[in-house]
Amino acid sequence: MHLTVLDHPLVDHKLTLLRDKNTPSSEFRELVKELVTLEAYEATRNLSTTEKTVATPVGVAHGKKLNESPRPMVVPILRAGLGMLDGMMALLPMAEVGFLGLKRNEATLDIITYAQRLPEDLTGRECFLLDPMLATGGSLATAVHYLHDRGASKITAIDILAAKPGLERLEKEVRPEIDFSVVVCGVDDELNEHGYIIPGLGDAGDRLYGVV
Ligand code: URA
Repeated sequence: MHLTVLDHPLVDHKLTLLRDKNTPSSEFRELVKELVTLEAYEATRNLSTTEKTVATPVGVAHGKKLNESPRPMVVPILRAGLGMLDGMMALLPMAEVGFLGLKRNEATLDIITYAQRLPEDLTGRECFLLDPMLATGGSLATAVHYLHDRGASKITAIDILAAKPGLERLEKEVRPEIDFSVVVCGVDDELNEHGYIIPGLGDAGDRLYGVV
């Protein structure tokens, strides 16, 4: 697993506003969108390109264009990952979007896939998983294996905040043959007994959708 923690004053500033419990939902949504776009810049660093020559008004420029076949796949994890979709698509408008809904069976603690809308065959596709909070790492590990089992060639998780225990679990659980990266804006040390990141920012889904 390759981990990138963004280190930039713009990210620090926006993340601090996002953590503040007095930041209202409307501003919270805008901040998530802006942070994801900054993360997407880093997360898409290895997308493949082809040389392309274009005529400028005054000459000829030898540039590069993103390869669109196979198209990158963006996969928000329901529900909170949806709040990250606009920011990602702002930078990668040609991507295809799929959806994954994951929840925990509270009796067995297994992760259940309760919704999915993805192509059966993801062979050779680069996939970007969106989920604001990488807390225990359980659902992210399930999502990564799910995409890899369908043929995804490279998987990058874009999260706003991660907890150290969740990152450690991913290191252990994600099969080593998977080309897997994580991009986050910050890493906190702890989880509480309910699986919330401490100090974190609370329940990202509730704050995005105005439940609190
Ligand atoms: N999900 C959240 O929304 N917040 C956390 O702190 C952990 C998981």
